[in-house]
Amino acid sequence: MSILIKNGRVVTASESYIADLYTSGEKILAIGKDLDYEADRVIDATGMLVFPGGIDPHVHLDMPFMGTYSSDDYETGTRAALHGGTTTVIDFILQTQGDTLQNALNIWRKKSEGKAIGDYAYHMAVTDFNDDVAKEVVKMIENEGISSFKTFMAYKGALMIDDGQMIQLMKVVKKYGGLVTVHATNGDVIDALIAKNLAKGNRSPLYHYLSQPEVTEAEASARFSDMLYYTDCPGYIVHMTCEGALHAVRKATQRNQKVFAETCIQYLMLDASLYEKNFEGAKWVMSPPLREKKDQEALWSGINQGLIQTVGTDHCPFLWEQKKMGKDNFSKIPNGHPAIEHRMELLFSEGVHQGKISLPKYVEITSTNAAKIFGMYPQKGTLAIGSDADIVIFDPKKTHTISVNTHHMNCDYSAYEGQTVTGKTDTVILRGKVAIENETCKLEAGYGQFIKRGKTSKTVL
Ligand code: URP
Ligand code: ZN
Ligand code: ZN
Repeated sequence: MSILIKNGRVVTASESYIADLYTSGEKILAIGKDLDYEADRVIDATGMLVFPGGIDPHVHLDMPFMGTYSSDDYETGTRAALHGGTTTVIDFILQTQGDTLQNALNIWRKKSEGKAIGDYAYHMAVTDFNDDVAKEVVKMIENEGISSFKTFMAYKGALMIDDGQMIQLMKVVKKYGGLVTVHATNGDVIDALIAKNLAKGNRSPLYHYLSQPEVTEAEASARFSDMLYYTDCPGYIVHMTCEGALHAVRKATQRNQKVFAETCIQYLMLDASLYEKNFEGAKWVMSPPLREKKDQEALWSGINQGLIQTVGTDHCPFLWEQKKMGKDNFSKIPNGHPAIEHRMELLFSEGVHQGKISLPKYVEITSTNAAKIFGMYPQKGTLAIGSDADIVIFDPKKTHTISVNTHHMNCDYSAYEGQTVTGKTDTVILRGKVAIENETCKLEAGYGQFIKRGKTSKTVL
């Protein structure tokens, strides 16, 4: 199968220009003016943007969490991602405390193989570190193409590791060419605030927010950065929400330290006033919680200052019935919201269309930086000769309104219901095959491939 895309504005992390792009098999073979190739398909992209397929570095598909499972599996989740222009996702494998990384990997392979429609990779969450796990970490990097290790500084008793384990993990990850990522919030302080609120009878979703003040994230982000500094390990803070946490990363730069940071689309678009809607606020119960307008401003600045490298979703959807597990107790509301489908369009509308970021910056934070940081570049994350033909043809002028009635995620509400956005995914190509056209998915379950990732380092950007 070959495709010739004519006259689109080709956008990469460094430039944008009008050109044709030719793909053959799974790869991009040529980019240039007036390309003269015979192709099975010719797509006229006049007036359209042509950019690399999105990479969402933070999703949770079919994940056991808080007594239930996230409601999108590999099929529904990667299909929804493709509809929105995300061609590759990085999901989290969770080690069960007391069990091996290998057993966890086997479980996630069963969830994904034969089911994924879009491409995917895994982060390995280390929830219980010891000498045996250290050997497995090496094996994951050397043999399995899993080079990023997720840690939790919260969710005590289920996922959290202590600082001693963190430092040991960092040492082995650094030695073998991996990266440690973190959910950086102070779990002990949060647990104490939750207990205090429940004891006072404060049980609504608003108290989820009030139990995780900004300082809990700022403190943990600074502590994590210090531990990275001490061990000289590359590190990445996931789902950064606030000014205080950003300051921790900024401060690290003053000692010539680079700590990578990700924010998520919801922290740029939504704010904590949504928790004042009584139980409806459960739709946005996630950790860390939504923050204030001043934090949104800080995060946009962080993006433009190069302190924040990626924008993910932390897609972790639950049906309304599942959210109701916390009807009388906010601490039982499964944490997470549906977003995998909307990241690219929301970020284009709010970022590029509103003039907050440039087009190359948009490509950088939606695909290129994730590919570089997580060892997939230049196979993924750019439009270049020899790269995978993962391509989004995007109409920058088309407006549409987000709704549960039209989204493709397995979730019976939309966290962005009624939001009108400017810019719409038109056609999506994944490894040389048309994946989305006329708002229809053309690929079957099983087309999605596991992407083995390479080693990484803190100087990759
Ligand atoms: O609320 C969230 N973020 N749910 C998913 C788990 C995590 O902490 O990323
Ligand atoms: Zn988290
Ligand atoms: Zn997450």
